[in-house]
Amino acid sequence: MRNEILDYFRKANGEFVSGQQISKDLHVSRTAIWKHINILKERGYIFESSTRKGYRLIYAPNLLTPLEIEGALHTDTFGRHVVYMESTQSTNEEAKKIAREGAEEGTIVVAEEQTTGHGRLTRGFYSPFAKGIWFSLILRPKFFPMEAAKCTLLAAIGVCRGIRRLGLTDAGIKWPNDILYHGKKLVGILTEMSASMEKIDYIVIGIGINTGMKKNEFPEDFRKGATSFLNEGIDVSRKDLLAAILYELEKEYAIAQNEGFDKVLEDWKTLSVTIGQEVRVIMGDESYTGKAIDIDKDGCLLVDTGKGINRVLAGDVSIRPVGAPLPKR
Ligand code: BTN
Repeated sequence: MRNEILDYFRKANGEFVSGQQISKDLHVSRTAIWKHINILKERGYIFESSTRKGYRLIYAPNLLTPLEIEGALHTDTFGRHVVYMESTQSTNEEAKKIAREGAEEGTIVVAEEQTTGHGRLTRGFYSPFAKGIWFSLILRPKFFPMEAAKCTLLAAIGVCRGIRRLGLTDAGIKWPNDILYHGKKLVGILTEMSASMEKIDYIVIGIGINTGMKKNEFPEDFRKGATSFLNEGIDVSRKDLLAAILYELEKEYAIAQNEGFDKVLEDWKTLSVTIGQEVRVIMGDESYTGKAIDIDKDGCLLVDTGKGINRVLAGDVSIRPVGAPLPKR
């Protein structure tokens, strides 16, 4: 009901609406409306009230509160349960905690800020207040544990498609878990799993999307290699972007579960910016170069070194275009 009331005010476009009118149109008592408006005020919405004219909405916070997210969603289950935090160390850590306690599939943990957000290979992930979307999605797939890498690939597809829908149409996937825009990192994805030998208990897909950082707001180490929507000229609505991503993720996840992984691989390849590229494969202190020619049915990257085809597992490896400096993120 609270969302319907909010929608009603949004449609009124800043004009006054009387409590009596809302009560009539939405079939709720005026006391109930008054209670909902008070709760909205506590959550940062600002209303002007007039005994004669009623209420008008003059400010809606630009935050990813459950209420804002819910109003934008088009999914069946993904994002229908939201754990919202203004600040947390890492949404992945929170998501793992509630997944252990039984949180249902599709639950997301969203934070405005992460104080110790992290990425693959124990790297930090810069996540300042309301300048990006920092969230983690809980899945309980029927795959075998050894197939968990598939979740990273399908997550990248969903995120990439959502980003393209909101205007960055050249966004592409860098194997295995980054989304790039014109060669710069826009998104990082970190998949973590808890499983027994034969069954996945849960998978947490952590996704960090740079939306509102200006170039000089990135830490110096990442400045050259990273970008954001704002940096690329788009003042994106975070809730619409999150909703688009969750919609695409849910769709691709259903394909993976119901139709098998072949279609997911096909989709991934059409969005990839890695296939066909000369790459450097880095494992700790060692590295080699070759041409990325494909990914196999397990999601491993196939690299033609000239002496043979190497099968690269995501685990501890990072890849760079040949000639690129080694980033610290
Ligand atoms: C990477 O670049 O290696 C992956 C970065 C993943 C960052 C996201 S932000 C939300 C979630 N919480 C974290 O601590 N990490 C992921």
